Amino acid sequence: MRTVEWEGGAVKMINQRALPWKLETVRLESVEAVAESIRNMTVRGAPAIGAAAAFGMALAARQSKAESVDALLADLLRDGAMLKRARPTAVNLAWAVDKLLQIAESGEFNSADDLREVLLQAAQQIAADDVAINSRMGQVGAALVEDGATVLHHCNTGALATVDYGTALGVIRAAFQAGKDIHILLDETRPRLQGSRLSAWELEQAGISYDIIPDTAAGYYMQRGEVDIVLVGADRIAANGDVANKIGTYQLAIMAQAHGIPFYTVAPTSTIDLGLSSGDQIPIEQRDPAEVTTPYGNPIVPAHFKARNPAFDITPQRYLSGIVTEFGIARPPFAESLRRVVAGQQA
Ligand code: MRU
Repeated sequence: MRTVEWEGGAVKMINQRALPWKLETVRLESVEAVAESIRNMTVRGAPAIGAAAAFGMALAARQSKAESVDALLADLLRDGAMLKRARPTAVNLAWAVDKLLQIAESGEFNSADDLREVLLQAAQQIAADDVAINSRMGQVGAALVEDGATVLHHCNTGALATVDYGTALGVIRAAFQAGKDIHILLDETRPRLQGSRLSAWELEQAGISYDIIPDTAAGYYMQRGEVDIVLVGADRIAANGDVANKIGTYQLAIMAQAHGIPFYTVAPTSTIDLGLSSGDQIPIEQRDPAEVTTPYGNPIVPAHFKARNPAFDITPQRYLSGIVTEFGIARPPFAESLRRVVAGQQA
């Protein structure tokens, strides 16, 4: 099953808020509903929200009553801006919307309906490419994982965070499929628990050995020599190699370096934003403090207790061993290697 897809004139997606208890899908029939599904994390994970936004644009085109290409374009610009506002950090969202807008703005179309059709095909292509790219990254990255290794992983970077297969979890999947005997330590990833709710659910399905650990136990296992490699995803990578990823990644990277453990980010080139020279320019989403005090509606403390909830942090490039992409492993100096992979050249 795909995390997000087009079905019968609507966007169908797995409801990630219901996992691991219930595997259910929702059907969204308006671009507003797609934007809301991204905001409330029915769909989440950088590449998955990119694909959802692409299908959202195809839906916006269908929904629009415009009869001319110009009028349709005006509606698409408005709806594209709304989709982009849904979540600020993962660049894949803006990347997908802009890709469809560029097609709409640059093409010669005989009619508004022609444009509608071309946009749907482009969204389908983005989704199909995502699956193919993840599988390539899996092959590239699997070489980093040795037989017998224990891998520490943060958040959810699997099939659910993408259209299918996954980024860092895709590498883990590929290493497992290559016959390597591996064990995964899954950070639970407070406050939304993507590690315990989603990554553990995926590894259960795949039959890959794992243990959920509290986020605060990562240093304990590193110090005991029980972690061979850390693999994480990314939501946006600046031109110098600084990485925005799920909150908690920064401290993992520092601890990994202190213990001499290799630390890799796995991300498609659509996550690289060459327009930003360093990580301090990446917008960091601040989410509702209630996610910290009352996770999934279960109060941990009285509702008036104060909390903060930054959803991402920035890992400076000096802590990275490399960035696994569909064009190979980018290594320092990242300014050069990232430019090469974004141009479609081998790292
Ligand atoms: O807030 P989320 O769950 O959308 O977080 C984004 C992520 O999935 C991770 O940060 C991940 O590492 C991106 S890679 C698929």
